[in-house]
Amino acid sequence: MAQKNNKYYVTTPIYYVNSKPHLGTLYSTLLADVAARFARILGKEVFFLTGTDEHGQKIQERAAEQNMDPKAFTDSMIPPFKDVWKLFGLDYNKFIRTTDDDHKKAVVKWIKQMLKQGDIYKSDYIGSYCVPCETFVTVTSDTPRNADKKPLCPSCQRDLREIAEESYFFRLSAYQDQLLEFYEKHSDFIVPKERMAEVKSFVKSGLKDISISRKTCKWGIPFPGDPEHTVYVWGDALNNYISAVGYGKDDAASHALFEKWWPADLHVMAKDILRFHAVYWPAFLMAAGLPLPKKLLVHGYILMGDKKMSKSLGNAIDPVDLAEWYGVEPVRYYLMRQMAVTHDGLFDVKDLEDRITSDLANNLGNLLNRTVSLALNNNLKTVEAPEVWEAASSHLREQCEETYRLYWDAMKACSYHVALAHVWTFIAEVNAFFHAQQPWVLAKNNQELFTEVIAAACHSLYAIGIMLWPVMPKKMEQLLISLGCHWEPDINYDTVLRRNVWDSSFTLSKTDEPLFVRPESRLVKADDVALAHKKSEKKDTKKTENKGETMEEIGIEDFAKCHLIVGMIEQCEPVKGSKKLYKLTVNCGEKHGIRSILSGVAQQMTPEQLIGRQGVCLVNLPPRKMVGEVSQGMLLYAHDESGNFTLATVGSPVDNGSRLT
Ligand code: MSP
Repeated sequence: MAQKNNKYYVTTPIYYVNSKPHLGTLYSTLLADVAARFARILGKEVFFLTGTDEHGQKIQERAAEQNMDPKAFTDSMIPPFKDVWKLFGLDYNKFIRTTDDDHKKAVVKWIKQMLKQGDIYKSDYIGSYCVPCETFVTVTSDTPRNADKKPLCPSCQRDLREIAEESYFFRLSAYQDQLLEFYEKHSDFIVPKERMAEVKSFVKSGLKDISISRKTCKWGIPFPGDPEHTVYVWGDALNNYISAVGYGKDDAASHALFEKWWPADLHVMAKDILRFHAVYWPAFLMAAGLPLPKKLLVHGYILMGDKKMSKSLGNAIDPVDLAEWYGVEPVRYYLMRQMAVTHDGLFDVKDLEDRITSDLANNLGNLLNRTVSLALNNNLKTVEAPEVWEAASSHLREQCEETYRLYWDAMKACSYHVALAHVWTFIAEVNAFFHAQQPWVLAKNNQELFTEVIAAACHSLYAIGIMLWPVMPKKMEQLLISLGCHWEPDINYDTVLRRNVWDSSFTLSKTDEPLFVRPESRLVKADDVALAHKKSEKKDTKKTENKGETMEEIGIEDFAKCHLIVGMIEQCEPVKGSKKLYKLTVNCGEKHGIRSILSGVAQQMTPEQLIGRQGVCLVNLPPRKMVGEVSQGMLLYAHDESGNFTLATVGSPVDNGSRLT
């Protein structure tokens, strides 16, 4: 049995089955899969849970529209989920359904305990309800409204329903202080940290008791002792995280299972359901006297145009199409690399193709191919490590070790996009080493050094293969096989990569198929996606008038394209041949590096007014040449009509590289 500290329990939200999975739901499940696989690399025993949320009014109505019995309807929706998860290699240990008997029993047990200890009482609910979100909504003056001034759901912006019915309430208000105390003690409970402030302020504003049963919704778990009611779908669903690991069952094996896995190490979800996980769920657990989950990873939305991708908005992309056009693992890579986990990110087919071409086919695939082909073409099949490494190889080995440290930190923090960026920096370093060493020349005149260069490339590729395994397991297993290694689930790769002893021998073989193919041939089909994307954007350019100034109206997706980041101006010097320009050296953080930026402000500002200040830089402009110098971005300034001129900056210091959103 796993030691308590050597286990890793990760969950996804359980998805409503009103529609098939799409790229957004795939994204959450993939994040959990990557977290689970990374824990495996660290030698942990993993339990990865996903599943479906099948009760409630939304499903009841969807089944009725289809003229189906709700259970038959939910049964029919399970294969689409399981098929897509399987296609994408999402290696879960359990797929829970809220219609499972064990789950229903666990919910009944929890409700009975709450009733017994007085945490649930009967009253009436009169107010609004959002069926798509299955949420009771408190309407205030801030609630969004439609053209007829009727309130809309603050989360999905759809119409609300008025309901007035008898209901059982959970005494959430009684847990306000305990929750605040918990947040104080566990400041790293929520990733990203900024979301904690939002949760705290919600709780501090005063918690009201929440409705925990529905009388008019018949499709749900019968409420213990009052079968006219069903358990409110969120009261039912959240308990999946404990029912899946034995809660609610009385036998010794279930007790041991629960003891072993609970509390969860990571709950993955998007921000739409943060309140349920950061407030209601901890309160439910506190009431039950159970430990609280260790961490919530709250990720952003995948956007299409300016909207969250969702089936009901009709802008969802079917992951099966993408897998068919680009292959499963390149899509996994794109999702993990392109999206900054805790921010919203646009899905863009062009970016996807560029990533496959450049990162996968050119940088990584080619490196493997060149290494193996060059060795085999020169009769080097078994590659032994040298007794002593030359300086260049030793340097590469140090870079490898440092990369693993950076990768580990980022993976631990669930910053998967950052971890991948570090791996690709290393891939560039290996490519540079390969070019500099010119092994194709060495093959002719220095067999020993030739073998060493190939061996260094093999050791590097081995580490790369392990680090990328959580994101692209099949491809990396293929890579390892061509080095003569195998992925072995029982190895603690953390120890291996941390020690980084380059003493292995590799037996090389060419793979039948190239590791990655460039996606040019699929561009036509990809255009279909882009077209669907465009349609959903309805992107007519509009003009808006503001006090005499005509401005072109842009969509949020246009703004999202601008990478505005905070950078520290470290140096400022005049540019020869220009009265207006300064050449600024700006530290744009780890990701964007130190940049040389030209600014036409020499007549308005002195270097002293700039040096040592944090400015706002647009960093994704193409490099621009001016008077013999290249500018790698643009710094922003503000000026008014009276001629005041100032650097645009931030209210208080933040890390260089922080993005303005
Ligand atoms: N059934 C509830 C969850 C109960 S968990 C105890 C539910 N289901 S859902 O089907 O609506 O799934 C919501 C979750 O799906 C989001 O929190 C997020 O994890 C994922 N996503 C749905 N659309 C998404 C995007 N467009 N982008 C990113 N994640 C997306 O809420």
